[in-house]
Amino acid sequence: MSEVTSQSVEKQSFARYKSNNTIEEGDHVVMYMSRESMSIIRVKDGEYFNCKFGSYKHSDMIGLQFGTKLGSNTGRGFLYLLHPTPELWTLVLPHRTQILYIADISFVMNFLNLKPGMSMIESGTGSGSFSHSIVRTLGPTGHLYSFEYHQERVNAAKKEFEEHGMSDMVTLQCRDVCKDGFDMTNMVDAVFLDLPAPWEAVASAKKAFKQDKIGKICTFSPCIEQISRTVTALNEQGFVEIQMYECLIRFNEIRVIPMWTIEEAMERQRAIEKKRKRALPRVMRDNKGKSAASSEVQDDNNEDEDEDETEDGDENTKSNKSAKIDTSAEDSAVSSAAATPTTTGSDMEEGASIVIPGSSSATTSGSPASTQQRPATAEPRERIEPKNLTVTKLPVEQRGHTSYLLFATLPPSVQLPNLTEKNAAATAAK
Ligand SMILES: C[S@@+](CC[C@H](N)C(=O)[O-])C[C@H]1O[C@@H](n2cnc3c(N)ncnc32)[C@H](O)[C@@H]1O
Repeated sequence: MSEVTSQSVEKQSFARYKSNNTIEEGDHVVMYMSRESMSIIRVKDGEYFNCKFGSYKHSDMIGLQFGTKLGSNTGRGFLYLLHPTPELWTLVLPHRTQILYIADISFVMNFLNLKPGMSMIESGTGSGSFSHSIVRTLGPTGHLYSFEYHQERVNAAKKEFEEHGMSDMVTLQCRDVCKDGFDMTNMVDAVFLDLPAPWEAVASAKKAFKQDKIGKICTFSPCIEQISRTVTALNEQGFVEIQMYECLIRFNEIRVIPMWTIEEAMERQRAIEKKRKRALPRVMRDNKGKSAASSEVQDDNNEDEDEDETEDGDENTKSNKSAKIDTSAEDSAVSSAAATPTTTGSDMEEGASIVIPGSSSATTSGSPASTQQRPATAEPRERIEPKNLTVTKLPVEQRGHTSYLLFATLPPSVQLPNLTEKNAAATAAK
């Protein structure tokens, strides 16, 4: 293990990548197994990261570049060592509350016109999901004022902001903003309220806005009744351009599926029929019990159904299977290498769907395929090797409504002199 000196350690920040891109003791690393499976560790010599595919020694990671693909001790799996970002943090953070996800985060940041150098209020801090994205956007010169009235959440968020190299860009206060307000005047460009009663904080938020600039506010509420009360408060306080959005995200999975010609599909169907017919005499021969025999037929049919599955299987391996039809159909063993259209490692097989640029030029890599030995008497195999086609597919489960986003603008209360007025004042002063 390499010895880490204080000089060689660059403080990690979730708001920007390390310039040397090298993993050092104390760094956070996102262990990326697939899009659906990742977690975060803090690298410490002597510790291990364990998952179902094996064990990964922290000390093996020290000195590697972020982005490295690392094999497990069993040789069965691998994962990627990623530099943490606000987007990844949202997916791996410990949930203390409900959190904002990427769709809302990106939409809100855009509509609030957030830019580096700006100052902003956020309340409540909750699990700090949104805070990380805000800080990266406002930093390094801007500032986030985050308010949370739950002391334990404040303590946990404070610790995370420090560990994530963000504490100089965030001021975190334990405060009930509905009861006590923000106690800030003429300081911020934007306000975001993720609170059960945001209307109670609107008047105090108004005072916090810079008075010579246009201010933007957004509130995030699951119920339309909350929106209604907040709209009333915003109107009363002189906010304009009040608009409400619901931000729904629809994920499209990209898959590679076999593109059968009519002839191939017919040949495939004939193979299935042939297999069914062959199963029948076996059933008749079996005089020990019809029920056992019929379940064998059912099993065979299930295998056929599996082979038909090109749309519903969630894993690439299923569509691979449908791309490999053995017309002898004596056994259902297939070489997973035969027509594997996507690149997966053994960890990745758990559900990662990888985009293949240029569908017909799909390649295979990852763990070697196991091919079962066929009996010597079996008929020779004829394989149909269809071309592959890249398609997009909506997963069955789609995240629905989370919350309504209410936006409003506060016009400057102090009007600065315009150019004509400035010129006139300058002329008069001469
Ligand atoms: C849904 S969470 C915020 C989640 C956060 N936006 C995120 O992305 O992680 C709402 C938070 O507001 C806090 N809260 C509720 N009422 C509050 C108040 N009056 N003053 C300050 N914080 C409050 C709660 O304790 C809770 O942690």
